[in-house]
Order: sequence, then structure tokens, then C-alpha cells
Amino acid sequence: MAKLEIIDLHVSIEDKEILKGVNLTLNTGEIHAVMGPNGTGKSTLAAAIMGNPAYQVTQGQILLDDQDVLAMEVDERARAGLFLAVQYPSEIPGVTNAEFMRAAIHARRSEDDKLDVHSFIKKLDKMMALLDMSEEMAERYLNEGFSGGEKKRNEILQCLMIEPKFAILDEIDSGLDIDALQVVSKGVNAMRGPEFGSLIITHYQRLLNYIQPDVVHIMMEGRVVMTGGPELAKRLEAEGYKGISQELGLALPEKD
Ligand SMILES: Nc1ncnc2c1ncn2[C@@H]1O[C@H](COP(=O)(O)OP(=O)(O)O)[C@@H](O)[C@H]1O
Ligand SMILES: [Mg+2]
Repeated sequence: MAKLEIIDLHVSIEDKEILKGVNLTLNTGEIHAVMGPNGTGKSTLAAAIMGNPAYQVTQGQILLDDQDVLAMEVDERARAGLFLAVQYPSEIPGVTNAEFMRAAIHARRSEDDKLDVHSFIKKLDKMMALLDMSEEMAERYLNEGFSGGEKKRNEILQCLMIEPKFAILDEIDSGLDIDALQVVSKGVNAMRGPEFGSLIITHYQRLLNYIQPDVVHIMMEGRVVMTGGPELAKRLEAEGYKGISQELGLALPEKD
């Protein structure tokens, strides 16, 4: 079992404090949802875990099995088993999707444990079939001209191929129609198991109808303000974020 611990994490962007003491522990075998209104710092949390240099950690710790993640470079974090599906995937012209994934897998494996071409292709075919992706997607340049839905599927494809210990999936449901949402959820559910943990960041409850979380965290104003079971997401669906912010005496989100 592996454990990802976020302890009293404070993060600033350009000297403005965005995260004000986030605490959260995720074990492999578990799926946690992080929900919250726009602008509360959900993507900032994801970026800080992965080591985006624009986000300054001013206080707190991130531990992966007691290893200091904040002391690791971005590539070391990936090798240690962390994966981030970003809210806005970038395009990399000139690098095909398949090349990118093969490189990403190899970067994570030791020299004597490389995946041979045949096994790689077999696995890629299988995962693309699972996600209803056409074969030509593998040979297209990474995210170039991909539709919103194709980009999201592709993020999940990378995750399935790389097999991280922990995947942080930031708004993988945004902009998806119901069919694409089901496919993406199928991909995430296929990864479920004792060796895999995930933080599913989402603004909406809808995704959680397809991916049943073990734990739901509500983030507001840069902190996790409430943690509970799946029923917490149902409550949000019924009340929006207003009920919880009133209960806790927090300012109402401008929009939710
Ligand atoms: N690169 C950035 N530069 C300046 N401010 C940013 C940047 N990224 C995020 N912010 C600000 O940080 C706050 C939290 O943003 P974000 O983490 O994206 O929230 P969420 O993902 O919950 O919607 C917002 O007020 C946002 O405007
Ligand atoms: Mg966000």
C-alpha cells in the first residue's frame, strides 16, 4: 500500500496565498473526490503536488510513503508514481501520442525493466479499445487538433498506460457529453484496485454518478472545509455550495 499525504499545505501564486493549509491523506485502493466552487484552489493543489514552478509552496509538506515530494524535481515525482491529468492539456506538435506515451512509460521504469515494442503496442491497442478511441489517434501529434473530449480521453489513456500509483485527475469531466463521460469513467474504473489511488477533482457531482468515490472533500477558500462519504456529493447536488458555506459561516462563492 502507498500513501500520499498533504499536510498543512500553503501555496502562493505571485505572492498571493491561494492554498491556506490543505490537509488530505490518500491511500492506494481509494478514490477521493475533491469538489469546490471555481477559484477555490483545486487546480492549484494539483499543480503543487506535481511541482509546477509557478506555484510556490510557502508552508507544509507533501509526503509519498514518507518521502518528501516537495524536494523532488517534476520528473522524479512522475517516477515516484504521481500522475496529473491537467484541466487544459497542452499540444506538442511533432511528437506523436504513441511516442509520448512510450517515453513517459520508460521514464518511470528502471533500465532493466523496459517495455518492449510488441508489449507496448498490445497494451496501447487494448486501452484504446477500452476508451473507444480510433487507432489513428495514436499516430497523431499530441493533442494537436484534438477536440475537448479527445483530449480528456487521451489524458486517461496516458494514465492507463503509465499505471501510476496516484493519479490526480483535474476536471476530466469538463466539456464532455454524456457518452464521453461514460467512456472516461470506464477508463478510471478500470484502474481501480489495491495498487492505485486517485484524487478526482470536479466542480460537478455528475461525474461521481459514474465513478463512485470512497471519500469526498469539499474545498473552499483554499482549504478542505469538509470531508465525508459519497453522500456529501449528493448533498451538493441538492443544495449547491451555498448550504455548506452558510453552515460553516464562509463567504458565499460568487458563482457555483
Ligand atoms: N497562474 C495564475 N496566476 C495568477 N493567479 C492564478 C493562477 N492560477 C490560478 N490563479 C488564481 O488562484 C485561484 C485559484 O485558482 P484554481 O486553483 O485554478 O481554482 P479552481 O481549480 O478551484 O477553480 C483563483 O483566484 C485564480 O484566479
Ligand atoms: Mg481548476
